[in-house]
Amino acid sequence: MPAAPLRLGLAGLGTVGIGVVQIIQRQADLIAARTGRAVTITAVSARDRSKNRDADLSAYAWETDPVALARRDDIDVFVEVMGGHDGPAKAATEAAIAAGKDVVTANKALLAHHGQALAEVAEAKGCVIRFEAAVAGGIPVIKALTEGLAGNRIKRVMGVMNGTCNYILTRMQAAGLPYDQVFEEARQLGYLEADPNLDVGGIDAGHKLSLLAAIAFGTRVSFDAVELEGIGNVSIDDIRLAEDMGYRIKLLGVAQMTGRGLEQRMTPCLVPADSPLGQLQGGTNMVVLEGDSVGQIVLRGPGAGMGPTASAVMADVIDIARGQRIPTFGQPAITLAIPTAALAATPAPYYLRMTLLDKPGALAKIATCLGDAGISIDQMRQYGHVGVHATVLIVTHKAAPGDIIHATARFAETGVLVDAPVAIRIEEV
Ligand code: NAP
Ligand code: HSE
Repeated sequence: MPAAPLRLGLAGLGTVGIGVVQIIQRQADLIAARTGRAVTITAVSARDRSKNRDADLSAYAWETDPVALARRDDIDVFVEVMGGHDGPAKAATEAAIAAGKDVVTANKALLAHHGQALAEVAEAKGCVIRFEAAVAGGIPVIKALTEGLAGNRIKRVMGVMNGTCNYILTRMQAAGLPYDQVFEEARQLGYLEADPNLDVGGIDAGHKLSLLAAIAFGTRVSFDAVELEGIGNVSIDDIRLAEDMGYRIKLLGVAQMTGRGLEQRMTPCLVPADSPLGQLQGGTNMVVLEGDSVGQIVLRGPGAGMGPTASAVMADVIDIARGQRIPTFGQPAITLAIPTAALAATPAPYYLRMTLLDKPGALAKIATCLGDAGISIDQMRQYGHVGVHATVLIVTHKAAPGDIIHATARFAETGVLVDAPVAIRIEEV
């Protein structure tokens, strides 16, 4: 007797939802061959039933309320692709789990804020929550961490996880354009989230990093402990001068377990221009995973868009159709440790840019501030003069972030500084 079909309730018919409908309609035979059963959509939900959508939805029942969809007796899996960390996405996901349904979601915000509670309830009910699409779109990074690297102690997770930010930074670099102009271009191209601060403020990427950290280090999701800094202050001057020193600026996520606790950062960093991360162009994402046995794995691919994100949603649906059931964060949620947040990032080299009065002893005063803070200079460059001002770049040896803050604060007391200095971490990749 053929296996019963796996019946989906699909909440959200936007970019990702319609992508899921298209794959299910186009690849029905292939999915059935790979899973041994049909995967079908029973019912769908969105806000506006009259909206023209790029798919034939006539075979599916319509639910105005996603919570009602989640509770339907004739669905096995609730697919949540509406978005939002509270409101209907949370209510419907909770309702689905309470009704004993498995959940597939693309919603990193929901899981970054409520992942632990949702996972505990789901696992107590024997349900799974899968979220491949929530991190780095089409890149199968959740699968890589939970399955492919399950035998490794993960040392570090790193990556560029927001395509919009990478588009803005690489476009600034390639065209020599200032941030505001490229931000506006990105808006016109439709790259920005409805709330652009989710992208350029680093929040969206921070959500993703916090989910990877939970799996990698066996800890509860702790988004609130992610050090967040967006790209709004990255200037074209820094992009140009970093390039001149052999670096590129990326909004880089880094998570690692240190002796001082879990370090999670999503901040602009310099990376070597010739490294895989330095070479990453446009809206593409890259995730670098480091395991004690495997060494370093680099995953690169589309982090957003209809096809790539729906591809990741379908990977989760197909796993469920195959009977593959893995705890949400790779180990039972109740066994996840409460992480201690590292209060400061590990020491790293820093790029320092400043404009100084071009007069005898100016550089010596700056070098003294660094020396007094125990910071050693690795490279230094002075760029021409504008009137009596000169731009000076310093690359330090490894320094503690607190020492950099202390030393650069003291620059102001030297009387040779023309405007506020810029300090950007150089990540060793
Ligand atoms: P979207 O295009 O804005 O679509 C959202 C859908 O949800 C729309 O169909 C909307 O209905 C529906 N919806 C919103 N509120 C609803 C409510 N209260 N009741 C019923 N339906 C509701 O969003 P998206 O880009 O597909 O993103 C969906 C999720 O995937 C988000 O969590 C997002 O972060 C995640 N994601 C997206 C991408 C991407 O490339 N787009 C990549 C990775 C992850 P109407 O159409 O009627 O307005
Ligand atoms: N806004 C995100 C990005 C896509 O630019 O990468 C959804 O995760």
